[in-house]
Amino acid sequence: MFSGKGGVGKTSLAAATGVKLSALKYRTLVMSIDPAHSLADSFDLDNDLFHTQTSDPLPINTHLSILELNIQKEIKRHWQEISSYVSAVLRTTGISGVEAEELAILPGMEELSAMMYINQYRREQTYDVIVLDAAPTAESMRFISMPTTLDWYMKHIFPFQRNLLKAVRPIANRVAPFELPTDSYFANIRSLFEKLEGVDTVMENPQTTSVRLVTNPEKMVLRETQRAFVYFSLHGLTVDTVIVNRVLPTAIKDSWFSEWHTSQERVLTEIEEYFAPVPVKRVPLFAHEVLGKQRLQELAELLYPGAEDPSAVTRTEKPYTFGKSNGAYEVRVLLPFAAKGEVGLFKKGDELVVEVGTLRRHIGLPRSMAMLSPARAKLENRVLTVEMKEAQ
Ligand SMILES: Nc1ncnc2c1ncn2[C@@H]1O[C@H](COP(=O)(O)OP(=O)(O)OP(=O)(O)O)[C@@H](O)[C@H]1O
Ligand SMILES: [Mg+2]
Repeated sequence: MFSGKGGVGKTSLAAATGVKLSALKYRTLVMSIDPAHSLADSFDLDNDLFHTQTSDPLPINTHLSILELNIQKEIKRHWQEISSYVSAVLRTTGISGVEAEELAILPGMEELSAMMYINQYRREQTYDVIVLDAAPTAESMRFISMPTTLDWYMKHIFPFQRNLLKAVRPIANRVAPFELPTDSYFANIRSLFEKLEGVDTVMENPQTTSVRLVTNPEKMVLRETQRAFVYFSLHGLTVDTVIVNRVLPTAIKDSWFSEWHTSQERVLTEIEEYFAPVPVKRVPLFAHEVLGKQRLQELAELLYPGAEDPSAVTRTEKPYTFGKSNGAYEVRVLLPFAAKGEVGLFKKGDELVVEVGTLRRHIGLPRSMAMLSPARAKLENRVLTVEMKEAQ
């Protein structure tokens, strides 16, 4: 899954990864889960294909297909009962037909539809690798938290709502301003849930799923990348590479760019320090847009030189995890080198900085922990557990 701030190059890098994978003879699908699709554009496909054909996988070559979800088609395929109920309710409030239909596209429907396909393709083993071109960070977060939210809904709200409605529907339908949802509405929800079953375990398993965070060597972009890294870690996903895209080539000597060179170098150093031990890759700024197969190939060659396999599992350990034990918040940091020496802990903004000997680790804290301070730490089996407490 390629994620990162808007415009950093996610689609280009996802497409290039697909090109490389297919050259290695993997059956590959590049799938866009960004409602503002640009995947077909990246392959420089005809504009007609853009809207009509990529809502089903569109073959690019024998091993590569691309897919851009079309929410209108998905609603017809999977969400019929739910969305017609929602638009019916909206119409009773005076919202016109077309507008009601538009509003009946609920937040999350696109993400869940995408997940259904991922799950289906996995069950049917249609592809060897699925490359996800994600939407900018915020939507990606919604994407990965969706199974948890839905699971919670199905366990706690769904049975209650359905049983309650069974009991009150006969009377309520006489007095309520709109019809209450029918059994088919609930059947629709249940069938969607079944289609999603297991997708969360697939996403959290580092053997099957990894996140590649795309960033640019700019301070503002870096900040968002750091936040994304925290949230992916929080949700148990493994980031296996950070890709810094659009690095100014050193060959550019023009004095106009000299300040860019220094600031990019500074941010690059910061990136490497922040994300260690996750490897950081650099991709240069091209002299042109990355459009069409030829240029995607050039990009792929820089990203995965020679025989490098983009689907190789390179990292299975999460650099840190968050948890709660006996009511206290904990940050668990993996220290791969079993570093010895004094442990230094301090806060820097909403980051926890851990120093062990010469090793330094920055850990962005989730909002629930951002106000806390490190109280105690213990090192056991290469894991440093830091207890977080309210500052006195
Ligand atoms: N290394 C690069 N050198 C030059 N141009 C690039 C490079 N990487 C990407 N681009 C160009 O930058 C533009 C944005 O890239 P892309 O669409 O891949 O970003 P994105 O992160 O997917 O954006 P969005 O958040 O809007 O989906 C495109 O025109 C692409 O061709
Ligand atoms: Mg994109």
